[in-house]
Amino acid sequence: MGPLIELKNIQMIFENRSSLFAQKRRVQAIESVDMEIKEGQIYALVGESGCGKTTLGKIICGLLKPSEEGVYFNGKNVWRLRGKEFTDYRRSVQLVHQDSYAALNPARTIFQSLSAPLFRYKIAKNRNEAYEHLEELFEMVGLTPAEQFLYKYPHQLSGGQRQRILLARALSIKPKLIVADEPVSMVDVSLRISLLNLMLDMNEKFGISFVYITHDLATARYIAANGNIAVMYLGKIVEYGQLDNVLSKPRHPYLQALLSAVPIPNPKIARSMKPLPLKSLDMPDPTNPPSGCRFHPRCPYGEERCSREVPELAAVEEDRFVACHLVEKIPEWKWGQ
Ligand SMILES: Nc1ncnc2c1ncn2[C@@H]1O[C@H](COP(=O)(O)OP(=O)(O)OP(=O)(O)O)[C@@H](O)[C@H]1O
Ligand SMILES: [Mg+2]
Repeated sequence: MGPLIELKNIQMIFENRSSLFAQKRRVQAIESVDMEIKEGQIYALVGESGCGKTTLGKIICGLLKPSEEGVYFNGKNVWRLRGKEFTDYRRSVQLVHQDSYAALNPARTIFQSLSAPLFRYKIAKNRNEAYEHLEELFEMVGLTPAEQFLYKYPHQLSGGQRQRILLARALSIKPKLIVADEPVSMVDVSLRISLLNLMLDMNEKFGISFVYITHDLATARYIAANGNIAVMYLGKIVEYGQLDNVLSKPRHPYLQALLSAVPIPNPKIARSMKPLPLKSLDMPDPTNPPSGCRFHPRCPYGEERCSREVPELAAVEEDRFVACHLVEKIPEWKWGQ
C-alpha cells in the first residue's frame, strides 16, 4: 500500500510587504522537502523556533498552499481534489493548532465549535448524542466534568485547557492522520505524559498516524519511540530516520549540537559533557539564508565547499538520510561525550 500522504519537493515562500520600509520581505520557510507519511505510523518533526515546522504541518493538512503543488493524499494531488474526495481528505487529516486561541471561534461556545464537525460528518444525529460523544472525549483528555468546559467560550479557558480541547476535537472525528503542533507545550508536566499516552493509544487502537511537532526532544523521543524523526533546520530536513537509530547515533552536526544541549539527569556525566563548539548560537536571518548548506556558518566542521553547494538529503544507510557533505568525515557522537 502506498503512503497516506506524500510530500514531493515542497517549497513555501512567504512574501510580506513591510509597511515600515515599503519593501518586500521574502522568507523561504520551506525548501525542497520530500516526505512520506504512512498509515499507522508516528513521526516526530523537530527543530528550533522558526525553522518551518508549523508551516510544514499546515501544508500537510492542506491549510497552506505550497509554492510548488506537491502534496498527495492516497496518491492524488490534494489541490486538485473535488467533491467527495476533497471532503474525505479534509476529514482524514486533522491539525491540532499550535495557537489554541486562534484555532477556536471566540464567539462560539466550545460545544458549538466541537459539535459542528460531529453533525457535518454524521457522527452524531442530535445534541444529546454530540454531548455524550464529547463528554467521553473530554474525560480522555482530562477535562472533567465536561459540562464545566463545554459551555464556556475560548477566552474563559487556560492555554493548556484549550490545547486539550483541540486534541479532543481532532480525535472526535477519527481521522487517519493528526498533525499535532506542539500539542502539550502549555500543559502541566503531570498531564503531559497522559496526553502523549492518549495519542499512543489512539495510534494503537485506531491506527491513527501522528505527525508530532515539537522543539522538545524528550517528548519526541517518548511518542515516536517506535516511529521516525525528521530534524529540520531553516526550512530543510537535515536528518531523517527511525527515531532510536537517529538519536542514538546522530550524524548531522546540527542534531549532534541539539543533543549536546539536552540536560541529562546524571550530574557526573552532565558536568563532563562538552557542548559542540557551535560557531554561532544565533539562527541566521531567514530572509537572507546562508548560501550552500544553510548550517555552514554555525557548523564546527564546515569547509569551503559547504558555503557553495547545497547538500541533498541522501541515504547513509537503509531508511536513514542525512543532508551533509561531510557526513562520512564527522566523528561519531556519543552521549556524555
Ligand atoms: N504567514 C506568514 N507570513 C510571513 N512569514 C511567515 C508566515 N508564517 C511563517 N512565516 C515565517 O516562516 C518561518 C517559519 O515559521 P514557522 O511558524 O513554520 O516556524 P516554527 O518552526 O513552527 O517555529 P516555532 O517553533 O516558533 O513554532 C519563520 O521565519 C516565520 O517568520
Ligand atoms: Mg510553530
